[in-house]
Amino acid sequence: MLVSAEEMLIKARDGHYGVPQFNINNLEWTKAILNACEEMKSPVILGVSMGAGKYMTGFKTVSAMVKAMVDSLGITVPVCLHLDHGTYDGAKACIEAGFSSIMFDGSSLPIDENIAKTTELVSIAKEKGISVEAEVGAIGGEEDGVVGMGECADPDQCAKIASLGVTMLAAGIGNIHGVYPENWPGLRFDVLEAVRAKTGNIPLVLHGGSGIPDDQVRKAISMGVAKVNVNTELQLSFAKATREYIEAGKDKIGKGYDPRKLLLPGYNAMIETCKDRIRCFGSDGKA
Ligand code: 13P
Repeated sequence: MLVSAEEMLIKARDGHYGVPQFNINNLEWTKAILNACEEMKSPVILGVSMGAGKYMTGFKTVSAMVKAMVDSLGITVPVCLHLDHGTYDGAKACIEAGFSSIMFDGSSLPIDENIAKTTELVSIAKEKGISVEAEVGAIGGEEDGVVGMGECADPDQCAKIASLGVTMLAAGIGNIHGVYPENWPGLRFDVLEAVRAKTGNIPLVLHGGSGIPDDQVRKAISMGVAKVNVNTELQLSFAKATREYIEAGKDKIGKGYDPRKLLLPGYNAMIETCKDRIRCFGSDGKA
């Protein structure tokens, strides 16, 4: 069974740890993440971007696959299926498809439109027990063709959006999706503190969680971040392990070309990456 993110995030906020949101791209990703989180006894949020949903042939497919896999693998930790950076229509489609959580990313819209659409989606989602994430201040970098400007969120706008009844709030604090550039100056803890001061105790979300130094991630968690999103780090560890397998010519030995063999090193590497991030966020043993 899938659960909303609400309870797991309130526990994380109060317990000063971060729930991982690992983004999924296919069956191997989903299986690796679920097995790693079960082994570590960590709650987990499976993030699905608009692009990844399309890649997996649609949100209905994703919802059916995740629900069946949680059941088949006998997963006992809380699992939330969450739309990542959703459009207004995407959010509605995911509610329809049986997701347990949605993110409406209105950060590129004028604030009044962001407020109006977020308000409408909150009322639809709340009725069904679905959690809602809103965003203020576009996250930098590029994800699935969506390019954010890397702004820092305006704390007053954060306060307005937080008051709409959303479950969690993503606020830009200098974080970037994808690989961080060499000269990245680090997270803006002054902005995080200002956002925290204006938004009460709503659980905050740190996007672009791949490649931020661990001490900065932990400091952000200690300041109110209750969910950390990771996508690129799993993609990099999967790609590295797969490349090593092929470069070593292992696909040419016996039936090494069988996808169940070919994708195994990448699958195992993703499990290790998940476990490493769970330890950093402190969510192990919290399921
Ligand atoms: P990374 O790809 O940088 O880990 O960011 C993931 C994310 O924030 C998903 O919303």
